[in-house]
Amino acid sequence: MEYKFSDRCKNLEGNAIREIFKLISRPDIISFAGGMPASLALPKDDVLKIIDDLLTSDRAIALLQYGATEGYAPYLEAGREYVKRVGINTSDSSEILAISGGQQGIDLTFKAFINKGDVVLVEAPTYVAVPHIAKTYEAKLVGVASYEDGINLRDLENKIITENPKLLYLVPTFSNPTGKTLPVEKRKEIARITAKHNVILLEDNPYGELRYDGQTIPAIKSYDEAGNVVYLTSFSKTISPGMRVGLAVASAPVIRKLTIGKQATDVHTVTLSQAVATEFLKRGILDESLKRNIPVYKEKRDAMLKAMDKYFPKSAKWTHPSGGLFIWVTFPSNVDVSTDIFREAIARKVAYVSGDSSFVDGSGKNCLRLNFSNATVDDINKGIKILGELLKERVEGKC
Ligand SMILES: Cc1ncc(COP(=O)(O)O)c(C=O)c1O
Repeated sequence: MEYKFSDRCKNLEGNAIREIFKLISRPDIISFAGGMPASLALPKDDVLKIIDDLLTSDRAIALLQYGATEGYAPYLEAGREYVKRVGINTSDSSEILAISGGQQGIDLTFKAFINKGDVVLVEAPTYVAVPHIAKTYEAKLVGVASYEDGINLRDLENKIITENPKLLYLVPTFSNPTGKTLPVEKRKEIARITAKHNVILLEDNPYGELRYDGQTIPAIKSYDEAGNVVYLTSFSKTISPGMRVGLAVASAPVIRKLTIGKQATDVHTVTLSQAVATEFLKRGILDESLKRNIPVYKEKRDAMLKAMDKYFPKSAKWTHPSGGLFIWVTFPSNVDVSTDIFREAIARKVAYVSGDSSFVDGSGKNCLRLNFSNATVDDINKGIKILGELLKERVEGKC
């Protein structure tokens, strides 16, 4: 059969990280490649108890029936309360939508705003799924330079003027892939600049609750006076990615367009997942489980940073994230960690994600992303030693 795939789809390749997952799901490999919560952090007993309560209550039938695309009303109410943690106040439930994970929120926002050829700005590097989604909607992605404290505002404004983008996509808190966090002043500036130039800001915040040092920072959405910010959050990293549940917050006309787009995609987010997340919020179980898990993740982050100090080549530089799940490593520009070194790391049974999958222009072969949430502290020490020794062998002679 000769399949006549659509122009939109025929050149799509799998998301690089999803492809790597196939390689690294082997139990003999120490994986720093994923972005998953630790298996032990998944709240199996809490979910079981809540589902038992829900399905033995008089709400059971409603939870198993079709629901509204906008979302399960108690979830939207709990969600409006939840986003106040990052300074977001909604006037009513017309400004919030239940989504099936943050990924769907990105897809629906592109679906609502992007025509073929429209420019979308992203921080370079960006979340690896965005190039994939952009290709689906035939957007032109343009990277904006990134500094130690996140996106460079001068480059952003220049690119807004020269490229006339429709949308800017950012992960301002504990970014994937870099772990960087934008300071408050830059957040206010980004709200101002994007509003001034009529650019939609897609603010993606799946990691904000996983903070190991310092205080919560308000979302850029909290400074949105023009109504140009679409805010996404997700319970994938804090409750369970398998439940596929998150929230989008935006002005009522934007939420309406996302809702219409979602009707065609999945009708509505699984009501049982929305109800479980509601109980996590209402009963305080989310906060209890964060209290349990944050020290565990912090210990892993610290162990990885300490082992990197000890074993990594001196020519490498890396981020020191205050939260989230990732450390981003940059080598001198003549080093390539994307092919031979990557294959050799897999042969020595350690996996990471090479940086080029996060850049839109093919650069980043001298960078890599390390995840610290899913390996044990012992495996972190062992894996970083193996990786550090390999990198020293291959990299030191080149610098
Ligand atoms: C920045 C970012 N956005 C969105 C997602 C998708 O997450 P979800 O499981 O909520 O769809 C991820 C997942 O790793 C992510 O890192």
